[in-house]
Amino acid sequence: MLPQEFIRTKRDGRALDPADIASFIRGLTDGSVTEGQVAAFAMAVFFNGMSRAEAVALTLAMRDSGEVLSWPEIDRPVVDKHSTGGVGDNVSLMLAPIAAACGLAVPMISGRGLGHTGGTLDKMESIPGYQAVPDNALFRKVVGSVGCAIIGQTGDLAPADRRFYGIRDVTGTVESVPLITASILSKKLAAGLGALVLDVKSGNGAFMDTPERSLKLARSLVEVAVGAGMPTTALVTDMSQPLASAAGNAVEVVNAADFLTGKARDSRLEEVTLALAGEMLVAGGLAAGPEEGIARVRAALEDGRAAEIFDRMVHALGGPADFLADPGRHLPSAPLVSPCLAGRAGYVTGYDTRGVGLGVVALGGGRTRPGDAVDHAVGLTGLLPVGTRIEKDMPLALIHARNDGQVAEAQRCLLEAISIGDEPPPPTPVILSRQA
Ligand code: URA
Repeated sequence: MLPQEFIRTKRDGRALDPADIASFIRGLTDGSVTEGQVAAFAMAVFFNGMSRAEAVALTLAMRDSGEVLSWPEIDRPVVDKHSTGGVGDNVSLMLAPIAAACGLAVPMISGRGLGHTGGTLDKMESIPGYQAVPDNALFRKVVGSVGCAIIGQTGDLAPADRRFYGIRDVTGTVESVPLITASILSKKLAAGLGALVLDVKSGNGAFMDTPERSLKLARSLVEVAVGAGMPTTALVTDMSQPLASAAGNAVEVVNAADFLTGKARDSRLEEVTLALAGEMLVAGGLAAGPEEGIARVRAALEDGRAAEIFDRMVHALGGPADFLADPGRHLPSAPLVSPCLAGRAGYVTGYDTRGVGLGVVALGGGRTRPGDAVDHAVGLTGLLPVGTRIEKDMPLALIHARNDGQVAEAQRCLLEAISIGDEPPPPTPVILSRQA
């Protein structure tokens, strides 16, 4: 079918044939379908949606636009997690080594930060020498020998998504549930996973800002993934406050190091990390249910196995040996560390979480355009959970910055983003729902 007829079919709300979807995606990948045609198709889907069968066909076509990995040499269940992204979300840094310590293989292909959200890859690149985009041979070797590798997307995995996402990004068509679903899952299917666990964030720091919209995305992701042959479960988790007490790159690595070594663990972060790890063990057939999974995860954390795996992964990918013995010795640090004082007594009653993320971007720790360099040293630490009692001269956070101008700008962002009231707010759960 000609691209224009294909677009008309969706525009008029009629069902698309899987063979025509595959042909359109081939044209999108080889450039024979024009940018205008891709944009028109994306807008037609934005308004008319897709059936589950169409979304499965789109996802598989995008998966097949490039290399599809398989792991015949690995005798463990191959399972990964994907998060829809947030602020202070460094879960992946702990989750990959925890899951590997419990017997899974985790080829974790992560992204860079964009907009107000942080990216796992940028965080890992804070570690000197760490090769975040290794060649395929090294990637496979590390997954095989260590059990996990956190790396960036290689050129040839789901290349259709790269062009499609770039066009959606500039045509107001990112926020379409079937298009987000196909975009996320095509990359995960191309990674050759046996099963997937999703962390769908919900709240004012997330892509989906209400529990209803997050649940809709979680349902779509789970049903399409299962339809495409990849067993998948999802947790919908709260992103209406930063998950960790740190937001930035090196500062989130320090937070993850403290978590793995048991020096300090933020409680909401711990709950989400353990729940997702437990789900991964269930997905891989290594635990009968989430509770058993969480018990095994706790054991791997407490006896130091997860920390040891993290150290081995870092070293195998070019970073220092014994990184966790003294992370601060290796990581870049900002010349200024300045408190952002509360200015009044009361309780932290809420966050504009996106505003906190934008504060990190203002410091130089995030990017405003793909390809921008990030400053790994800057960021925020000591962010307080909602409900914390504060006094007038207590810091709401510590700002790690290069200069006074950055400190002032981050202070402005934080004071605008953090609400303080006289009464403690009601407690809010961090895990909102589970989708299987
Ligand atoms: N993340 C993706 O990978 N794709 C989308 O479309 C949205 C978020």
